Amino acid sequence: MGQTAQVSDLVLPSASGAGASGGWLWHWRAMKAQVPWSATTQQIARWLGGVSPGSSELLLIGASGGWMMSSAWLQRFRCVRAFDVDRWSAPVFRYRHGAALQQSRTTLIYQQLDALRYLPQLLRTYPDAFVLFDNVLGQLRFVHERLDAAEAQLHAITRMLRGREWASVHDAYSGRVGSDTADAQVQLLLGPLQTVRQRSVAGALPQFSSAERQWCAQMGVKGAWLDHLTAGIFPAGTPIQHMAWPFSRERRHWLQAAWVRP
Ligand SMILES: C[S@@+](CC[C@H](N)C(=O)[O-])C[C@H]1O[C@@H](n2cnc3c(N)ncnc32)[C@H](O)[C@@H]1O
Repeated sequence: MGQTAQVSDLVLPSASGAGASGGWLWHWRAMKAQVPWSATTQQIARWLGGVSPGSSELLLIGASGGWMMSSAWLQRFRCVRAFDVDRWSAPVFRYRHGAALQQSRTTLIYQQLDALRYLPQLLRTYPDAFVLFDNVLGQLRFVHERLDAAEAQLHAITRMLRGREWASVHDAYSGRVGSDTADAQVQLLLGPLQTVRQRSVAGALPQFSSAERQWCAQMGVKGAWLDHLTAGIFPAGTPIQHMAWPFSRERRHWLQAAWVRP
């Protein structure tokens, strides 16, 4: 792979450079990047198009302004309960999706809340609702000072979700790509979606399948990538959609998305 790192070299460096995930900075970034991110947004919409939960009620965790969310998918629900810790998110979300939701007569209830902290209560209060973690679980490593605390919270969340129908799209890894190949790679990466089965090894350092190694090579991985600690989130055997998100000219995020059915 030349300058490209082996995927087994993916390490857990400090969180610097990856940034926190919310607030005005996210809104600003997402607003400015609507064109370069549009292919990823469409990939997410196509993935969501294949997610058809049994419930007509949605708990949308980490909704932000719904910058990468599909209005069409939200319209399938009778009620959307959206949550974000960020105070600016609700008006932005309403601006972006409100008209579509009115059209489908979907009730939108948006609450400023630490929905991961209060997840047990939310799950108890809305026992039949479908839960979508919308690009939030990969950010937990930035919330905790210690990585093992972030991992413990992620494990606790997946334990809470046992027996429940849920889905998540989140960062798995992120980092730099070779500048010489960046433009060409974006085209290549935004081609057909790839589905790779969940890796079977759970543990501290991930083992990558040959398909995943190929995926990293395509992405032009350079240097050590940040592990977002989400490798073990989905139950073994869950089909996972992999997407390469051109976060900036130099950085890619390896997104993973899956729908978990009890
Ligand atoms: C990467 S952004 C998500 C983007 C969003 N899904 C979109 O399409 O615009 C992550 C969001 O999760 C929110 N978030 C982080 N931790 C949270 C928590 N514990 N409860 C609720 N929201 C949280 C952040 O405020 C941020 O808006």
